[in-house]
Amino acid sequence: MPAELHRAQDHAVIAFHDLVPRAGAIAANQYLIIHGHEAALVDPGGDLLFAVLLNQVLDFIRTDQLRYVLATHQDPDVAGSIARWFMSAPITVVVSRLWGRFLQHSVPGYQVDSGEIRYQLLPDEGSRIRFADGYAIEAVPAHFLHSPGNFHFYDPISQILFCGDIGASNSAQAFGPVADFDAHVPTMRAFHQRYMASRIAGQVWAERVRRKDIRMLAPQHGPYFEGADVSRLIEWVARERCGVDLLQPADGAADAAP
Ligand SMILES: [Fe+2]
Ligand SMILES: [Fe+2]
Repeated sequence: MPAELHRAQDHAVIAFHDLVPRAGAIAANQYLIIHGHEAALVDPGGDLLFAVLLNQVLDFIRTDQLRYVLATHQDPDVAGSIARWFMSAPITVVVSRLWGRFLQHSVPGYQVDSGEIRYQLLPDEGSRIRFADGYAIEAVPAHFLHSPGNFHFYDPISQILFCGDIGASNSAQAFGPVADFDAHVPTMRAFHQRYMASRIAGQVWAERVRRKDIRMLAPQHGPYFEGADVSRLIEWVARERCGVDLLQPADGAADAAP
């Protein structure tokens, strides 16, 4: 069942959280932002999800209303289905400038109208994704968390920051607000330690997002963070050693030295 994270007269945010049909595939959340007569889909995933997600999206909008696919980064569970979305809706794919040329490898050459004209490539400092009435979603830099070209997307109306793989967990808790932050940390730790590049990346991100009015942090995997847990997660990310912070010579680093 989709979950409504925000609903106002002209603006809604819907979470799809239970669509991954294969037990061995990582569970993932997809988010739909509807503003007026236009919409954006955040991290729609790959071919595994396309048909079932499209079917659900059609309960809320028509395909000709879908203006954007927002990709936090380039992973298969994020952006693997862009060829299908290009064929199904008048979308622009929004992604880091680092990944535009790479994502084109997901799209068959015969889709002649799916070239670079259908991408909004984000500069490292971020940008705005504009809708017809002036509303804009903000692309917030989150580089190396975990991809070298990585963005989060901030909806200033709902004050939700869609934070990709930051805050991802393998929690058994049903989708909803995290029930107990301290108990939740072990379900995030192994993922962040391996997939996030370093604590410096986390500190730079924390410094940036502390200044924003965030009501909810909505990750791509697992339950979301709201209320006091928003700053708890930000400060945890700023503190947690991960990635190359934990790399040991036994992991192969010494062998790679000249
Ligand atoms: Fe990822
Ligand atoms: Fe992911």
